[in-house]
Amino acid sequence: MIGKKMEEALNGQVNAELYSAYLYLSMAAYFESGNLPGFANWMRVQAQEEQFHAMKFYDYINERGGRVILEQIEAPPAEWDSALAVFEAVSAHEQKVTALINQLVDLAIQQKDHATNSFLRWFVDEQVEEEDNAGKIVGQLKLIKDSPEALFLMDKELSRRVFATPASAEGGT
Ligand code: FEO
Repeated sequence: MIGKKMEEALNGQVNAELYSAYLYLSMAAYFESGNLPGFANWMRVQAQEEQFHAMKFYDYINERGGRVILEQIEAPPAEWDSALAVFEAVSAHEQKVTALINQLVDLAIQQKDHATNSFLRWFVDEQVEEEDNAGKIVGQLKLIKDSPEALFLMDKELSRRVFATPASAEGGT
């Protein structure tokens, strides 16, 4: 049975992950309207990943005998100045999420909740990848600057991203 404090904090993370999905879907919509379907695809896949993260927390709360309580999801921004501005926002957002995951780990340790600490390990590793993915695209967009040809090629590249359920997550929760 999970402790009340940990249960509340994990419920907060369900909301944070769903907000992330909402934010990336809004970024997808921004790119769709800017005729960059590849960038939009990357964001749609990212939104799917965030929904997957939310459901991992959802399932875990239930598994531990807790109760999932859904809260209101904040409206995300809808406009950005450029593709670079979008990915800088992604990068900043993922750093914020990493801090939230780290706070959950701190709480699990403080509560001596070893099961939750172990469960969170997957997210600690996932955040390394999330920050790296966003950081690499920021770097590429800085390199290509305002070149429409390069942006077009990058759009083609990002159109290839597909959502796949992470193998390491199966059976774990
Ligand atoms: Fe759920 Fe992008 O971290």
